[in-house]
Amino acid sequence: MKIVIGNDHAAPDMKKEIVKYLEELGHEVVNFGVDTTESCDYPQIGQKVGRAVAAGEYDCGILICGTGVGISIAANKVKGVRAAVCSDTSTARLVKQHNNANILAFGARIVGIEKAKDIVKTYLETEFEGGRHQTRIDMIHAIENE
Ligand code: RB5
Repeated sequence: MKIVIGNDHAAPDMKKEIVKYLEELGHEVVNFGVDTTESCDYPQIGQKVGRAVAAGEYDCGILICGTGVGISIAANKVKGVRAAVCSDTSTARLVKQHNNANILAFGARIVGIEKAKDIVKTYLETEFEGGRHQTRIDMIHAIENE
């Protein structure tokens, strides 16, 4: 898969480890995040990754900040984005099966690297179930046009 990843200053180390892991799994990864702990503004990174995913330039996105929340809120303001914060593998599976999340988010201050890898792998390997879930996704995106 072609994956875009973004992170703020809370997550450069975790981002690097996740990029390495993704590449080991055979994925192509493009980095829109920062590589130092110098303070930066996560809304811009969430927006940039969100725009690229919504434009169809990548199969999916991964966002990491301290909690995964701020950066995912920013990405979710981009039309067409369904970014989901996950701190466990059950949620990672369900956000793909039911919500067809196109961006996975998590917090570097919340989950450790091994849990983060499990979350990423589960999310990438799970298929969207479609059917009634697509109807509900259509309803979510209809809100964007109000
Ligand atoms: C940065 O200190 C922190 O606020 C950010 O990484 C994130 O957790 C926001 O939601």
